[in-house]
Amino acid sequence: MIGKLNHVAIAVPDLKAAAWTYRERLGARVSVPQAEPDHGVTVVFVELPNAKIELLHPLGANSPIAKFLERNPDGGMHHLCYEVEDIIAARDQLKAKGARVLGDGEPKIGAHGKPVLFLHPKDFAGTLIEIEQV
Ligand code: CO
Repeated sequence: MIGKLNHVAIAVPDLKAAAWTYRERLGARVSVPQAEPDHGVTVVFVELPNAKIELLHPLGANSPIAKFLERNPDGGMHHLCYEVEDIIAARDQLKAKGARVLGDGEPKIGAHGKPVLFLHPKDFAGTLIEIEQV
């Protein structure tokens, strides 16, 4: 069911510093910051040959990553995103195998304009998982 790794999302307290690190220290291709008010984040996309890294910084009062940064003030890995062909089929298989789907269980349109769901970290080795239909 699981396809390619689409991105690794890293919550960062300082978006400029994190973008600098990836661009100047690692020599990666790095986008300008993009505000995503619907998702409560500002994102810098880092393009690698085989996947993306997304540097996430809180935007607005109810950002979903604000609490994470309170617990992890230096930043850290927030979630992994795996591609699936059919998000409804993937969700139903995952639920049948005992995985918890976050929210109301209905896919939302994610930061790339494609349907996504999030899965409970306790069911995936302590890692928040996003699945995205590609
Ligand atoms: Co993501």
